[in-house]
Amino acid sequence: MAIDLQTVLNSNSRLASVKTPLVALFVGATSGIGLGALKEFAQHATDPRVYIVARNVKTAGSIVDELRALNPRGQYEIIEKNVSLIKDAEAVAEFVKAKESSLDLLFLSVGFVSLDGRQDTTEGLDASMTTRYYSRLRISQLLLPLLNRATSPHVVSILAGGMEGSLQEDDLGLRQARNWSVARASVHSATMGTLALEKLAAENPHVSFVHAYPGMVSTPLFDRLASGVAGLLLRWLVVPVIRLFSRSVAEAGQRSLFLATSTRYSVDDGIVALGAVQTGGSGGALQRGARSNGGKGIFLVNASGYIADNEKVLAPLRMKDMERKVWEHTAAVFNSVR
Ligand SMILES: NC(=O)c1ccc[n+]([C@@H]2O[C@H](COP(=O)([O-])OP(=O)(O)OC[C@H]3O[C@@H](n4cnc5c(N)ncnc54)[C@H](OP(=O)(O)O)[C@@H]3O)[C@@H](O)[C@H]2O)c1
Repeated sequence: MAIDLQTVLNSNSRLASVKTPLVALFVGATSGIGLGALKEFAQHATDPRVYIVARNVKTAGSIVDELRALNPRGQYEIIEKNVSLIKDAEAVAEFVKAKESSLDLLFLSVGFVSLDGRQDTTEGLDASMTTRYYSRLRISQLLLPLLNRATSPHVVSILAGGMEGSLQEDDLGLRQARNWSVARASVHSATMGTLALEKLAAENPHVSFVHAYPGMVSTPLFDRLASGVAGLLLRWLVVPVIRLFSRSVAEAGQRSLFLATSTRYSVDDGIVALGAVQTGGSGGALQRGARSNGGKGIFLVNASGYIADNEKVLAPLRMKDMERKVWEHTAAVFNSVR
């Protein structure tokens, strides 16, 4: 059974007692789970300064209007970039660095799954893997100096925490056509994501890193699964059934903000506890969860909000030095787009 929603909502509402203005960057919040989390954050944070990455500033304008209606005291700024390109991901980080000296929350939910096959970007990379892995990692890496200056910084990646799998070790980027498949691109994005975030966590013990699987959530992701006739059939026949068993965007957003702020997923007392310090309360925090890699890694979280244990997959990968190999591959990819 999932963590009781009332517990989640009570915790989220405590954000209102955090009087220091929180600074957040949302990547992937023009839709779906990210948008749900963004609205929940705007509603509860006192004077937030929020940056939202959007592919099209015009279509994202209505989101800012909605956020202003939820919380007129917040400041909201759209960064018009397409992070299916690593260069754009780098520009996003530079934009925030030019404006802010610290960052409390980096929320990453950008990405898609396409049954249409591999889509190469102008950087020669698979767009689904770039949005779900390379660009998420690049932004996290470049913003570490700002994150390290925040009181209780959090990086939350919504993808497939706890669902890591085996890697095509001689082709981590799945560049060979015979190696690429929808499933493998998803497994590589999730597994490399966990291993790379574990490395960042080890080097940045002040920052809480969360990689979560959100469960099935009723978002536009399913409508975009395929184009053409296959897409129509999916949208008419399959997606309505999926939606019957899916969580709402609002609830997924509420649960995601909980991941980003509660003690349960924090190396310290969590963002909600910052308010408790000011008000003299206890913070009402739940017990802290265990991190991966024997407590040195990240918070891997399943759809119910509990810590996921996938050591049977991850431990052998670490034994094979895959963390270093994934990082070397990733650094080479980052260098290749320079
Ligand atoms: N929904 C689920 O049941 C579920 C389950 C497990 C994992 N996930 C993962 O969770 C993450 C969020 O999913 P969601 O359901 O919230 O998806 P969503 O509603 O489709 O939102 C995805 C976000 O990513 C952006 N995006 C999509 N394709 C892009 C591209 N080619 N280039 C740049 N940006 C792109 C979208 O921007 P635009 O608004 O501009 O399109 C949007 O901001 C995804 O990585 C998904 O794989 C979802």
